[in-house]
Amino acid sequence: MVSVTDGHPEIGPAGRPASVASGSGLPAEIIALTLVVPFNDVAALERTFDEHRDSIAGLIMEPVMMNAGIIPPQPEYLARVESIVHDNGALLAFEEVKTGLTVAPGGVTKSMGVSPDIVTLAKSLGGGLPCGAIGGSAEIMEFITDGRYEQVGTFNGNLLTMASARAALTEVLTEDVYRRWDDLRSVMVEGCESAIEACDVLAHVVDVIVVEWLEEASGHELRQHIRRGEEQVVIDLARAHLRHGLAHVVRSRDLEVDPVSLPKSFATLGHR
Ligand SMILES: Cc1ncc(COP(=O)(O)O)c(C=O)c1O
Repeated sequence: MVSVTDGHPEIGPAGRPASVASGSGLPAEIIALTLVVPFNDVAALERTFDEHRDSIAGLIMEPVMMNAGIIPPQPEYLARVESIVHDNGALLAFEEVKTGLTVAPGGVTKSMGVSPDIVTLAKSLGGGLPCGAIGGSAEIMEFITDGRYEQVGTFNGNLLTMASARAALTEVLTEDVYRRWDDLRSVMVEGCESAIEACDVLAHVVDVIVVEWLEEASGHELRQHIRRGEEQVVIDLARAHLRHGLAHVVRSRDLEVDPVSLPKSFATLGHR
């Protein structure tokens, strides 16, 4: 994966991030084939396409960033992204592995009414079994169906996984369940808000997909979230939640700079 992570001197300025390998073993040539643009920054996306005219194949992005705390798109951002990408003859892929069926039926793609050319799904799709899927417009998927792109694999269409995914999609993830999750989410948001207020910690609550920013100064950009990952904030918030019976698992290394595990809570059907 090529990404921008705090702590790298080569990360570059916020408006023009450099491509930095997220781990070892990535050839420099692969890194050089990617460009990184900041989330929620339309001007940076336009500029990137202008500077690399006719040489960008596509953009892959999480429509709501889920591994940096949670960063929702600003109003109209995704629609602007879609038109900029398409105006430049490129394709748009939404990475909905985490958001997919978790936030709403149809994921962010449906809830926000923006149609990518490709969507990736996984996690909750499999109803507990390991499962991933890609979808796309008929035009794109034809590359697979007519054999121009060979999409084969040991676990493709695995019967057990498919049965579990079908049960998850048709019997578990019903409209009633999504309604119940909405109710649970309200309970969690209100509970977190009152815990934050009672304990007077520097924190705010973001919930997807009813995107609510509860603090005027909330960030819309990855690096602002990284800054909020400061050790004391995470510890204070985890303690505040604990007093209200909500335990967070925060690995010690995450206390330093990694925003991935900033306290995030998921309601399950087991919650009452
Ligand atoms: C946003 C996101 N995308 C993709 C993945 C990995 O998905 P997979 O294991 O299906 O490749 C993860 C984490 O597991 C993730 O958090």
